[in-house]
Amino acid sequence: MNRNYELTPGYTISRVINGCWQLSEGHSLTSKIDFSDVMRAFHMLTEQGFTTFDCADIYTGAEDFIGTFVEELKHSSASSPDAIQIHTKYVPDLDKLETVRFEDTERIIDRSLKRLRRERLDLVQFHWWDYGVPRCEEVAHHLVRLREKGKIRSIGVTNFDTDHLERLRDAGIPVVSIQSQYSMFDRRVEARQLPWCREHGVAMFCYDTLSGGFLSEKYLGAADFTPQTRSQVKYMQIIEDSLGLDGMQKLLGLLKEIAGAHGVSVSAVATHYILCQPGVAAAIVGVRNSRHVLDNAKLFSFDLTEAEKAAIRGLRSGYPDLPGDPYTLERTSPRYRGIIKMKLNGE
Ligand SMILES: NC(=O)c1ccc[n+]([C@@H]2O[C@H](COP(=O)([O-])OP(=O)(O)OC[C@H]3O[C@@H](n4cnc5c(N)ncnc54)[C@H](OP(=O)(O)O)[C@@H]3O)[C@@H](O)[C@H]2O)c1
Repeated sequence: MNRNYELTPGYTISRVINGCWQLSEGHSLTSKIDFSDVMRAFHMLTEQGFTTFDCADIYTGAEDFIGTFVEELKHSSASSPDAIQIHTKYVPDLDKLETVRFEDTERIIDRSLKRLRRERLDLVQFHWWDYGVPRCEEVAHHLVRLREKGKIRSIGVTNFDTDHLERLRDAGIPVVSIQSQYSMFDRRVEARQLPWCREHGVAMFCYDTLSGGFLSEKYLGAADFTPQTRSQVKYMQIIEDSLGLDGMQKLLGLLKEIAGAHGVSVSAVATHYILCQPGVAAAIVGVRNSRHVLDNAKLFSFDLTEAEKAAIRGLRSGYPDLPGDPYTLERTSPRYRGIIKMKLNGE
């Protein structure tokens, strides 16, 4: 399996992207982040070839932290700021969607540039909280103008359904990637979005591949599933509505068996499986510490057999799937929508 992916001509990323939502204020619910250990993890990841980072304007503190890492790389003999790729997001607050002007967008992009210590942002992934406010294409065009001004290299999106992704494309927004939720629990992308992305050459970046860490040995036979992070709050809801805790244990048992055959971890199998799916360009794996770096480095050391992939799919097929296109439940169901924070930009 390839470790890297050429997103646009001359711009290559690692297929496992280092996710930085985990570093944002309030993400960890039960313990404090040791940021010196995270900095160690960033250096280790870069040395292992995991050179691509995912953050957002709304991940409070994460862009600044990556900016500090960029500063460190300027003085590093092992790497340099040009050796890494940083993907951020542009997520206008829900209550600003009616009024956001080009100048507001530019101010937020300038803030990301400053925080990340970059002259140009590698990729800005656009999000729109409410399709009921019919300005999505218009505001996405702000990013096109900023790209023309040289402040952005490429434009992506996050948490769009397929219809609205298509509308952006039809409106002339040069979308190169989409970030969607995809794991063994949540397969909503498979019905329409992944095939659409394959057909139209849009790269799919998946988050949730480890379901916030629930897909790991730690939870095999565990009795306590109290969420430790905001990711786990979100994914516990998905588990309840798909395999349930019982099915999750059966899945973990199967993954453990497969992992044993390859001498890797359950988490390595879970991410590898998603990376094998046609049309998936990359998986975004959250980083909270340096504990998992060496384990994740083994992700490309093996290949799942067709029989193993079929066994996973077979087990999964015995349980319900979430309905609809990606992020539709999150927009329409009060239970899903209720746990999302939509005013974090502070603009
Ligand atoms: N666009 C969006 O709306 C959106 C939403 C969610 C996430 N994302 C992006 O995707 C990234 C990933 O976030 P996620 O919520 O989907 O979390 P995730 O990647 O499914 O889970 C991350 C957690 O898994 C555990 N882990 C990682 N590697 C492991 C290994 N090898 N063995 C065992 N456990 C391991 C770690 O937990 P411990 O450190 O506690 O052990 C880590 O904090 C985010 O940082 C963000 O960049 C985007």
